Amino acid sequence: MSSNWVLACAANDVDEEDVLGVELNGQKLAVYNTPKGFFATDGICTHEVAQLEDGLVIGTVIECPLHQGRFDVTNGKALSAPVCVDLKTYPTKVEDGDVYIDVPV
Ligand code: FES
Repeated sequence: MSSNWVLACAANDVDEEDVLGVELNGQKLAVYNTPKGFFATDGICTHEVAQLEDGLVIGTVIECPLHQGRFDVTNGKALSAPVCVDLKTYPTKVEDGDVYIDVPV
């Protein structure tokens, strides 16, 4: 599968331990700045329709703003009820101060 790196934002658009919502190729994604680096996931919770950009980042975990379900943003794993379906994650890289996400075409 070929890569499709798309510029998502400037690295300093996302505060440390915070999340930013972006829309790339018509897809809503969330970009996280964590102590382990930048990560990207789908922007909508897998439980109901909530924007993860409004959630709380705790280390490498995002807590959904609606029912406080938690996901590991490094691999998308659903960590606590009520979420049980993992989040999709996307490869992310930082180059020259910008964050790029490998988004399926
Ligand atoms: S919508 Fe995210 S935990 Fe319910």
